[in-house]
Amino acid sequence: MSVIIETENLTKIYSVGGREIRAVDNLNLKVYEGDVFGYLGPNGAGKTTTILMLLGLIMPTSGGGRVCGYDIIRESRKVRSVVGYVPEKYSFYEDMTAYDNLRYFAKLNGIPDGEIDDRIRRALEIVELQDRAGRSCSHIFTWNEAETRISQHSNKESKTNIPR
Ligand SMILES: Nc1ncnc2c1ncn2[C@@H]1O[C@H](COP(=O)(O)OP(=O)(O)O)[C@@H](O)[C@H]1O
Ligand SMILES: [Mg+2]
Repeated sequence: MSVIIETENLTKIYSVGGREIRAVDNLNLKVYEGDVFGYLGPNGAGKTTTILMLLGLIMPTSGGGRVCGYDIIRESRKVRSVVGYVPEKYSFYEDMTAYDNLRYFAKLNGIPDGEIDDRIRRALEIVELQDRAGRSCSHIFTWNEAETRISQHSNKESKTNIPR
């Protein structure tokens, strides 16, 4: 199995009004392809700071890392192009149809025009929402329902599934 996320002594110290806050302290992490990895800790433990550094949205104070083989400091645009994100609260435009939302995000993600329709068709198939592509997102589903469908799909496809 190849390493998909790797950090070496990743450290972030924030300076606030002359005071130093050591948010992430020499983190050494290896996550392998196919792993489902939970990164847990109490409020203020440094989880968000770690993820912001992995995505190149803030610079480490020292140390470094790689995501999918790309250096988080020198190749952060590449990192962001290969990382997916499922927000806590869904972020679709409710007054647009499901199809238009997917098309909009596909374009933002730089998916070539000729591939977009096919990708949307496959995505809607996975969550069994093909018949509702033309309806506005506010009428389609709750985020819970979508998550349930996605996890049902992963149940079918994968050998490991960690329920929440
Ligand atoms: N932009 C910032 N400036 C100064 N301190 C910060 C900033 N962001 C987070 N911190 C501090 O860094 C520590 C880790 O925070 P954070 O990464 O948000 O933890 P978590 O996501 O695990 O709750 C906390 O002490 C927090 O107050
Ligand atoms: Mg956080």
